Amino acid sequence: MNIKLVGFTGSLREKSFNMSALKAAKELLPMGVTFDILDLSDIPFFNEDIEDNIPESVKEFIEKIIESDGIVISVPEYNYSIPPVLKNALDWASRSMDMPLSGKPLAIMSASPSLFGGSRVQYHLRQVCVRLNLLPLNDPEVFIMKAHEKFDEQGNLIDESTKTVIEKLMNALIKEINK
Ligand code: FNR
Repeated sequence: MNIKLVGFTGSLREKSFNMSALKAAKELLPMGVTFDILDLSDIPFFNEDIEDNIPESVKEFIEKIIESDGIVISVPEYNYSIPPVLKNALDWASRSMDMPLSGKPLAIMSASPSLFGGSRVQYHLRQVCVRLNLLPLNDPEVFIMKAHEKFDEQGNLIDESTKTVIEKLMNALIKEINK
């Protein structure tokens, strides 16, 4: 097995629960699967006026997606919806003639201190996936609710049932890629 995954989140926060969820997913992957967690902090706001001179950070982001076999997004919920950092990155990628996102299997997670675990944003993200022809898995759904209780101060995932469901999601993604 030689599978390349990339992952990213919509949070720039140093102690982001969603970034911690991506790191936990990376730890739970079987041998032969690499997982590159991408940093979106240098991606500027999308502007059609600069599309003829695409920033390096955007080129790198798109290149990494093209090289990947599948994508993992852990999405924070901002006012029931997608944080601008994530939507902006997806908008940039959507404009590339290479159509890097089209047909890629996608695993979605969300982490929030709330009792809903970001469930509402996941359905907004799924709506955007239709346009991008990103192929999100339906099962399992990973909503990390009360996230402040699931990770320790260093961002390590300390909840066994959350580990189990993230591992199931990663295995489902690998199975989809291998199909
Ligand atoms: C939030 N948060 C939040 N949480 C939630 O469950 N539903 C929501 O609609 C919102 N809305 C919202 C808006 C804005 C502008 C902020 C900054 C935050 C709380 C959010 O889930 C919490 O800050 C998470 O910790 C963000 O994810 P990271 O940064 O930990 O990955």
